[in-house]
Parts: sequence; C-alpha cells; structure tokens
Amino acid sequence: MLPGTGTPWLLLHGTGADEHDLVPVARELVPTAPIISPRGRVLENGMARWFERYPQGGFNLADYHFRAAELIEWIEEIQHELPGPWAMLGYSNGANIATQLLRLRPDLFAGAVLWRAMLIDPLAKVPQPIARPVLLTSGEFDPILPIEGAIELEASLRRDGAEVEFARFDAGHGLTPGDLMVTQGWIARNLGSE
Ligand code: MLT
Repeated sequence: MLPGTGTPWLLLHGTGADEHDLVPVARELVPTAPIISPRGRVLENGMARWFERYPQGGFNLADYHFRAAELIEWIEEIQHELPGPWAMLGYSNGANIATQLLRLRPDLFAGAVLWRAMLIDPLAKVPQPIARPVLLTSGEFDPILPIEGAIELEASLRRDGAEVEFARFDAGHGLTPGDLMVTQGWIARNLGSE
C-alpha cells in the first residue's frame, strides 16, 4: 500500500502481471493518491490472475463469483484503516474482476476505470443499481478481448445502473496514449483533481 491524499485507488493487474505492474501508470494519473495494489491469488501456469480460466477456454464462473466475494471481504477489512469509497483501475483480467466488485458492492467504490474488459457472466445480478461512473476503454482489434465482449459489458453495466463512458481505440490488447488521455479526463470529470 502506498500512502497519499484524496481518493484511494485499488489497482487490479492483468494476467501474468503482479502488484507492481500498474503502479507507475497509476502514479502518472493520480500522483498523490493512496494506492492499494494486491496480487491476484489464482495461478494459471504460474501466472497470477483473479479468477480461474479453463485450459480449453472459457471462465470458471463459480470461481469468478467466489474470488470477487473474497476480494470484497478483504477490501472491507482494509477500508477500516483506509476509508472508502475507493476508485478502481483494472486492466484485462483485473478489469474483469473489478466489474464484479462494483456490481456486488458499489457503496465501497467511487467509480472504476476498466481497461480492455469484457462481459464475463451475462447472468450476473446486482443487489442494487451500481449508480457509479465507469470508464471502459477497448481496442477495436484486441485479439484477447474481442470488441464484442466490451460492447456487451457496456450494455450490461448501463442496464445495471452504471454511468458508462465507452472509448474505443484503433488498438489491440495493449494500452495507447489515447487510453491514458481519456482516463485523465474521466478522472478530472468524475473524481475531481484528486
Ligand atoms: C486474460 O486476462 O487472459 C483475458 O484478458 C481475460 C480474462 O482472463 O479475464
């Protein structure tokens, strides 16, 4: 955990990365914010991630929901010392678990930036309207997260009451300067200059 002032940011890395991966770019975006950056607890061929993916493809939805609930418990603990609501920044697999955290407990979060995310469980229910700002950025030619998955996620989040901004780039799975620029503007509009 990195100390700071203003809205704390929870960083959720992508598959095969770790707790250090998103810290530099988060520091660029929110130079003074407190940062909480855990490592995913699920291992896939030694690579850390947030929920299980089957070797033949497809996701273990039971694990997706279990790991999200597990993370919520952990976040509730930490928020005793570092009160929320927190903002979330997730990339790829991290963005996909961030979506489920937001669905489960929007009260714990001020909003979420979802870089290269997709709809994982079309049947996921929300106990209450999300009613939080969400930025979703996607690559039109992403070979790992096809744009259709992002379009489905935007529709699902809107249906569940999130205020979604959806930015699509002529890009693949990697981030572009455009992703960062749009994210900077979204933070200023939705979370103040914090
Ligand atoms: C990955 O991270 O491998 C894919 O982008 C999606 C996911 O597994 O959540």
